[in-house]
Amino acid sequence: MMESLRSAADFLRELGQPEVAVVLGSGLGDVLPLEDERVVRFTDVPGFPRPTAPGHKGEIAVGRIDGREVLVQRGRLHYYEGYSPEEIVFPVRAYALLGVKALVLTNASGGIAEGLAPGDLVLIRDHINMLGFNPLRGPNPEELGPRFPDMTEAYDPELREVAWEVARELGISLREGVYLATMGPSYETPSEIKAFRALGADLVGMSTVPEVIAARHAGVRVLAISCVTNLAAGIAKHPLSHEEVLGIGRKKAAELGELIRHLIPRLPV
Ligand code: HPA
Repeated sequence: MMESLRSAADFLRELGQPEVAVVLGSGLGDVLPLEDERVVRFTDVPGFPRPTAPGHKGEIAVGRIDGREVLVQRGRLHYYEGYSPEEIVFPVRAYALLGVKALVLTNASGGIAEGLAPGDLVLIRDHINMLGFNPLRGPNPEELGPRFPDMTEAYDPELREVAWEVARELGISLREGVYLATMGPSYETPSEIKAFRALGADLVGMSTVPEVIAARHAGVRVLAISCVTNLAAGIAKHPLSHEEVLGIGRKKAAELGELIRHLIPRLPV
């Protein structure tokens, strides 16, 4: 595994030496154009798995925002697509080896907490892992990180403070919440959503948590922003559809892109 991760990192190094990486999730692939952009497809990168979910582009761009070099991953890998946990975190680990110090993750989620509405942007403060796996299972490559990494402040408080400041300056309204990850691909039942709410979840989705665990394992700082695309099952009065999730994502995507564009140059890495 270390060998293919090193090959991927070496390949990406040809594109630049970014210290910040951004992962753009469902329906968000277009929101962050870069200056001087160099683009490769996932399939060009040695060892990278191939994406299959609709709404995902499957490309990596390296370029600049306001003078800061940044890597943007457009599209991501989900467990429900059939990838192994190790494949899902392969990109994040490759970025860590490349020298990335801060990772900005985005996703689409269902809103569970009182008062959330489709289109809301929510800074993830913590997570609950209900995926049924941990991507660090198996032999621990010590070059990557410790066997038992701490997750107390997985979502970096200092990076969240920067996001709050930038959102205030841009007049973008933001909330904070706890993200619960499920395996999917079926949406939740109303009873599951009730249970998740009782557990302390504000948002539900099918991604992000594996990448966060792998990033923290490798000592990469994490900021994660969720776009609520729908009210979760049973809170919504109608059945959920993937089209709804992608549709609202597009409408709110510009604002999320704006927020990320402005906070990237200010991240302390
Ligand atoms: N549930 C799970 N994942 C999601 C949802 C949801 O309601 N909306 C967007 N991703």
